[in-house]
Amino acid sequence: MPHQPEPLVIGHRGASALRPEHTMPSYETAIALGADYIEPDLVSTRDHVLVARHENEISGTTDVADHPEFAARRTTKTIDGVTVTGWFTEDFTLAELRTLRATERIPDLRPGNAAFDGLAPIPTFDEVVELAVRHGVGVYPETKHPSYFDSIGLSLEEPLLDVLGRHGRRDRHDPVFIQSFEAANLRELRETTRLPLIQLIGGSGAAYDRMVTPAGLEEIATYADGIGVATSRVVPTGSGGRLLAPTTLVRDAHRVGLDVHVWTVRDENAQLPADFRRGDPDG
Ligand code: G3P
Ligand code: CA
Repeated sequence: MPHQPEPLVIGHRGASALRPEHTMPSYETAIALGADYIEPDLVSTRDHVLVARHENEISGTTDVADHPEFAARRTTKTIDGVTVTGWFTEDFTLAELRTLRATERIPDLRPGNAAFDGLAPIPTFDEVVELAVRHGVGVYPETKHPSYFDSIGLSLEEPLLDVLGRHGRRDRHDPVFIQSFEAANLRELRETTRLPLIQLIGGSGAAYDRMVTPAGLEEIATYADGIGVATSRVVPTGSGGRLLAPTTLVRDAHRVGLDVHVWTVRDENAQLPADFRRGDPDG
């Protein structure tokens, strides 16, 4: 696909520095600030509706722990090799999830956002796309844990394409990028959609290290249109956060026809204390 003449501005989880992430006020603020795209992470409810949450475990981003009627739903699961205890979207119907309210995920970093705790419900993907269409901006959905959701009979792909199609966003040049860390999920999507697909590549890990080699990029170009990489893959940092020389990744990716998007670029990362940055590099 043709390379964009200007960098795209993607509202990561909305304007998550200014409103609790993945809420309608967060997406609306990102649009008001001039974002070209808004970025919802997607998980499924029990009744197979896509909602915007970074994780399917929601104790850190909602007030679910304050709802005694849901106390018995607290459980422990191992998903993608990580064991987590809490409340999971796939154990709630949409109607039940709608009784919850979003809260700030990192109040220490974003104390101003705590003022918005308890105000907004969890949005559906349908609402997010409707907002994007109404304002003429793009939407950049990410499928979260797609193989896990497949394994419990709640495939993310079908409702994802259904919602986009209902809002008239189904063609190659529509302002949509679908992103995933799971190559298998993108390969599956490639079978059913011409919408641009983005292979996410984390900042560390052997599988991701392979993806950024020339051979790895060539392979990605067989099923995706671009890569979405941690900024450290493009501009690594040395001791004390000192920026090192850029890698050849952008050139190598362009050479095989892949677009390159980076995450995450924002001022507040510069304000993180050093120990926080190590623990949660993408903020
Ligand atoms: O869009 C890329 C980026 O969103 C992936 O990281 O963890 O913020 O979803 P995450
Ligand atoms: Ca994301």
